[in-house]
Amino acid sequence: MPKDLAARAGELRQEIQFHNYRYHVLASPLISDAQFDELINELREIEAAHPELITPDSPTQRVGGEPVEKFEKSRHPAPILSLGNAFNADGVRAWFERIAKLDDRVERAKFVVEPKIDGLTVVLHYENGLFTLGATRGDGEVGEVVTENLKTVKAVPLRIPIQKSEGGRMKNHPSSFSPPPMLVVRGEAFIPPEKFEAMNARLAAAGARTFVNPRNTAAGALRQLDPKLTAARPITLLCYAIVEMENGSIPTQWETLEYLRALGFPVTDVAKRFDSLDKAIAYCEAWVDKRDRLDYETDGMVIKIDDLALAAELGVVGKDPRGAIAFKFPAREVTTKLLDIGINVGRTGVLTPTALLEPVEIGGVTVKQATLHNFDYIAEKDIRLGDTILLKRAGDVIPYVVGPLPDARTGKEKVYKPPKKCPTCGEAVEQFEGEVAYYCVNAACPDQLMRNVEHFVAVMDMEGFGTRISEQVVAEKLVKDIADVFSITGEQLLKLEGFAEKKAQNLLASIEAGKSRPLAQLISALGIHGVGYVMSGDLAVHFGSLDALRKATVDQLQDVEGVGPSTAEAVVEWFARPGNKKVLDKLKKAGVWPKAEPKPKGATAGFLAGKTFVITGTLPTLSRDDARKLIQDAGGKVTDNVSKKTDYLVVGEAAGSKLEKARSLGVATVDEAGLKRMIGGK
Ligand code: IVH
Repeated sequence: MPKDLAARAGELRQEIQFHNYRYHVLASPLISDAQFDELINELREIEAAHPELITPDSPTQRVGGEPVEKFEKSRHPAPILSLGNAFNADGVRAWFERIAKLDDRVERAKFVVEPKIDGLTVVLHYENGLFTLGATRGDGEVGEVVTENLKTVKAVPLRIPIQKSEGGRMKNHPSSFSPPPMLVVRGEAFIPPEKFEAMNARLAAAGARTFVNPRNTAAGALRQLDPKLTAARPITLLCYAIVEMENGSIPTQWETLEYLRALGFPVTDVAKRFDSLDKAIAYCEAWVDKRDRLDYETDGMVIKIDDLALAAELGVVGKDPRGAIAFKFPAREVTTKLLDIGINVGRTGVLTPTALLEPVEIGGVTVKQATLHNFDYIAEKDIRLGDTILLKRAGDVIPYVVGPLPDARTGKEKVYKPPKKCPTCGEAVEQFEGEVAYYCVNAACPDQLMRNVEHFVAVMDMEGFGTRISEQVVAEKLVKDIADVFSITGEQLLKLEGFAEKKAQNLLASIEAGKSRPLAQLISALGIHGVGYVMSGDLAVHFGSLDALRKATVDQLQDVEGVGPSTAEAVVEWFARPGNKKVLDKLKKAGVWPKAEPKPKGATAGFLAGKTFVITGTLPTLSRDDARKLIQDAGGKVTDNVSKKTDYLVVGEAAGSKLEKARSLGVATVDEAGLKRMIGGK
């Protein structure tokens, strides 16, 4: 076997590991996704030709091994303890007094304050730097072995310490930093609220079952017998403790965090050390109102005695170590009345139930609506109209109905039945095999049409043509399909409420401008299931015209990178539908029939070079990943948190604390259309 191939594989492994770390641990990537894919593909090719070169810590081994029948058990090297709770400053002071009586040193102690992450504990074992075993907490003494599942979590280092790279060249970290022969680390695995919402939005659009909350979803995903299922969930991790270490010890909690960080583990950057309890308490209190700024759900802060020997000597009460206490935040759970259940008809025809509530305040926000996921959820939880329900707001996500409080029933509550007819158009609804969603399959359903028009004009960048006008033109039957947008006349517009000469002229000009959008944009605007902005670009480059694309077979479509069988089928199906054929013919007649231009990537590469972006909220047409790809392909950088270094915040619907922070720092904001304009180079 050629020696240089082995060397190259080693080099690639290290480089990929490093860029994985930049992306998933530091949230500050140095290369684009495409560049990353190139590296991993090169390594895969070498390993495929020379399987003997595959190492257990190769990044190609993250895909997850074979499914297991059941989980093995593993005894933790030391008990995985819990935490006592305090619900306010007095509770914390009472804790301090209790332990100060046990040991004089407590009076002079320093404290480390960390966020209390609402996830689930995992225990990670490293032997000579190699990740060899990962377990759940279990009963605190014995956990379940979920090593293969944890390997799919990109924030879990497969080898420590992380090797640093400078200017793209690999540089070994000082060798004094060799890992201990055995290190067992404790962390908390979780799904970031934003990723959770994006995942649910995708599932809902596909008619699949959505998840109820991030914590249970993460717990369920880590306990899947098939690691591929774990890999499909956006789980990440933060580490905060050493359970066991051979040949050495770390004297303080503060240094533990620093040491873990230096090894390459993900560690919170919110932790602080204080020399007095009052300062520690003040820091906890300051986070009560800022908790939504974090990328994870927190149910409080943890105050820990910094001196780990002292903390250990203080001992344990039950399962709670005396050396630390949780400062709990007020729970964001309230009860209110379910007045009614509303139904939304999405662009794809999916009907989704929404709880219409007696307005209630929860964590400083007044809530009138909450998600009910799907009709099965209502039945499973036996949620009835008029019920008193428990409502929860977790992280920065849309509040959800946890369930009813049956004891509060008066007998007047009514069992809810899913609609048999679409609430908008009155046509029968259908449920497809394998999907939980109910669909309105009437393509002419005004709600669906409205959403399609709304999507079409947004993607086609028709300025001034928003939701309200989409509603008007559909309601007045000026538009019966998306192609009709191009035949709207000034006369028709002037008859609509709120339209005067000027506004009508401006809108017509926007519509006219929409006629000359590039092919990729038009494909994306058609709203084909699973075909986003990035894939549309690839389809445009590959097929060159709508004439070619509409004739493509499932096989031909799958020749395009990123197009899998189900998307290929969706595309073929879309073009085969008679209504859509009519739309295409109309578009052609209206002269909206662009030819492919050079790949947008090449044309705009480097346009955003040196610019750092953060994305927040739900964008009208781009998924998070699509937006990230677009920015990266144009040379920009995408990070997770707004700071002074952020150049632009890309703002979508329901943008929360990041928008606030951007405003307070004076960071520029753009919406999706603005982003597309920037990338278009305008
Ligand atoms: S320390 C001796 N620190 O909260 C160590 N726990 O309610 C005791 N948790 O079981 C735990 N973030 O799963 C600690 N920064 C943090 C934490 C944390 C989350 C979890 C942990 C624990 C639970 C107790």
